Amino acid sequence: MSEKPTILVQLDTDALPSVFDRVVAVDAGVQHIFSYGGVTPQNVMPLVHGCIFTRGGKDLCRTAIFVGGSDVTLGEAVLAEVKKHLIPQYGLSVSLMLDSNGANTTAAAAVRAAGRHLDLSRAKSLVLGGTGPVGQRVARLLARAGGNVRLGSRQKERAEAVCAAIRAHAPGADIEAVSVASSSDAPLALDGRNLVVAAGAAGAVLLPKKLRHACKALKVAIDLNGVPPAGIEGVELPDKGADRDGHICYGALGVGGTKMKVHKAALHKLFESNNAVLDVEEVYALALLLP
Ligand SMILES: NC(=O)c1ccc[n+]([C@@H]2O[C@H](COP(=O)([O-])OP(=O)(O)OC[C@H]3O[C@@H](n4cnc5c(N)ncnc54)[C@H](OP(=O)(O)O)[C@@H]3O)[C@@H](O)[C@H]2O)c1
Repeated sequence: MSEKPTILVQLDTDALPSVFDRVVAVDAGVQHIFSYGGVTPQNVMPLVHGCIFTRGGKDLCRTAIFVGGSDVTLGEAVLAEVKKHLIPQYGLSVSLMLDSNGANTTAAAAVRAAGRHLDLSRAKSLVLGGTGPVGQRVARLLARAGGNVRLGSRQKERAEAVCAAIRAHAPGADIEAVSVASSSDAPLALDGRNLVVAAGAAGAVLLPKKLRHACKALKVAIDLNGVPPAGIEGVELPDKGADRDGHICYGALGVGGTKMKVHKAALHKLFESNNAVLDVEEVYALALLLP
């Protein structure tokens, strides 16, 4: 067992590395955090070499890389490039985690909450704000679970592009793009849905109460927007399985508590080996292990 201090190398695609991610790392007990901003696939190689060529094989499990920033697509590209510069055949590898915009940890917590009330392999869900980093990951997990997923956007072509990307990760995924551009679109998008997850931009109302009430099949409503007004009207920020008009509701704080636990559990996992890769599926698996 190595006694070297733990080092988390934070590779952030934004100019200023996320304070949120640094604070969570400190609270998870990471001993040193090296933070780099403006990281791109083009400039990441020397940062990876700095990780793998410094400590001996048995100590490399005490160094790990966290990829963050507000752009999940760029984060994915950085993660892919980081993998290229590891040399696992000689043991020169460190564990990796992707959580751009908190998308993986938030999505894992939200889908875990939904799965407490619904059989996700048969669920009929609608993800509003599905083109954002968080919504994309929620939809990917729901699609992987096997249910039917509708991914909503004000621009259907954007939703279609995200659905195609999700199908690439989850072949056979039962996922379709729906427009939510006009008030007449919403009833069609909601028809037959027993789960709605709103992952829209902060402060944007995506589902008014009237439409929620009209959705007869709806059982679970999860709103991830933490900035009032609520993304799903009538859901309160701290809701955690609250009954609101016959719907089981979760608000951003209700999900956020679990998100923080998932994030810390994932950071702990990084230092158990030097070869873990934690993207949304692996983070969700950790979420399911939480008490
Ligand atoms: N609870 C937690 O622990 C936690 C953690 C992280 C994030 N969050 C929250 O999760 C939500 C999603 O985060 P994100 O970063 O993925 O969001 P985002 O990228 O800012 O927005 C997601 C989508 O919302 C839609 N949208 C934007 N402005 C809108 C408007 N005025 N009206 C209706 N739709 C609008 C857009 O989709 P289209 O243009 O395609 O329609 C956009 O792609 C945010 O509210 C964020 O604050 C919560």
